[in-house]
Amino acid sequence: MGPYERVHECLLKLGMATMESTIDSYLEASKNRPVMEILDHLLSEELKHKTSKKTENMLNWSGFPFRKTIDDFDFSFQPSIDRMVIDELMTLRFIHNTENVVFLGPPGVGKTHLSIALGMRSIMSDIPAYYISAVKLVQTLKKDYDLKRLEYRIKTYSRFKLMIVDEIGYLPLTREESNLFFQFVSSRYERKSTIYTSNKSFSEWGEVLGDQVMAAAVLDRILHHCTVVNIKGESYRIKDRKRNSFQKDKRE
Ligand SMILES: Nc1ncnc2c1ncn2[C@@H]1O[C@H](COP(=O)(O)OP(=O)(O)O)[C@@H](O)[C@H]1O
Ligand SMILES: [Mg+2]
Repeated sequence: MGPYERVHECLLKLGMATMESTIDSYLEASKNRPVMEILDHLLSEELKHKTSKKTENMLNWSGFPFRKTIDDFDFSFQPSIDRMVIDELMTLRFIHNTENVVFLGPPGVGKTHLSIALGMRSIMSDIPAYYISAVKLVQTLKKDYDLKRLEYRIKTYSRFKLMIVDEIGYLPLTREESNLFFQFVSSRYERKSTIYTSNKSFSEWGEVLGDQVMAAAVLDRILHHCTVVNIKGESYRIKDRKRNSFQKDKRE
């Protein structure tokens, strides 16, 4: 095998498909260029492709219900949100410090949007993030418990340095479900970051979890290292509805 074939074989075996497919034409077109420049170009292109593919894979696995960023968020519509707090969260320091975030507020104020924006930033920074609704989480844990693979599932979740558990409080939990949720919260406590969102204030979590003592234990762990963002304001969905009906009025 000559050097030409060996280079191609090496590139394929190393999984450098981009470089493998472009190297011939690029070398042809850059005959008098310094070798370092050529290597620089070919390797940088390979890395760029790999990174964007990895990011895309992480996004596909993330379970995000939509992809929105912080730039899509209109802070002027929600003045109760302290922009400085969100900017600090966007640095992702909370993930490095294994701290939590809780977004509280009524429907439509942007809890999911801001959570996803943090998740997107996390993935763009090469930190895997995973989104799940509280209902789905509890259903999954329950099934895993019945199939005796709860520990395995919790270990799988631990691979995500950031998890988003959305919509706590839309459905009250049974005692068994609360217990499983508590185990989940405990497994991440001081080890991994989690963003929780809820339409219920903390004082109502006792009702949600069906047990005051359980709620206190859960909140104790969530809130020990935590940024709480309490959003008070109108639903953005209502704003859209209002604007649409306004436009309709104008047309009429
Ligand atoms: N301040 C905002 N600027 C831009 N879009 C917003 C804002 N608040 C909410 N939205 C959008 O309105 C919809 C509802 O927001 P969402 O985050 O799902 O609310 P919540 O989770 O609090 O119920 C989403 O499409 C979201 O992107
Ligand atoms: Mg939501």
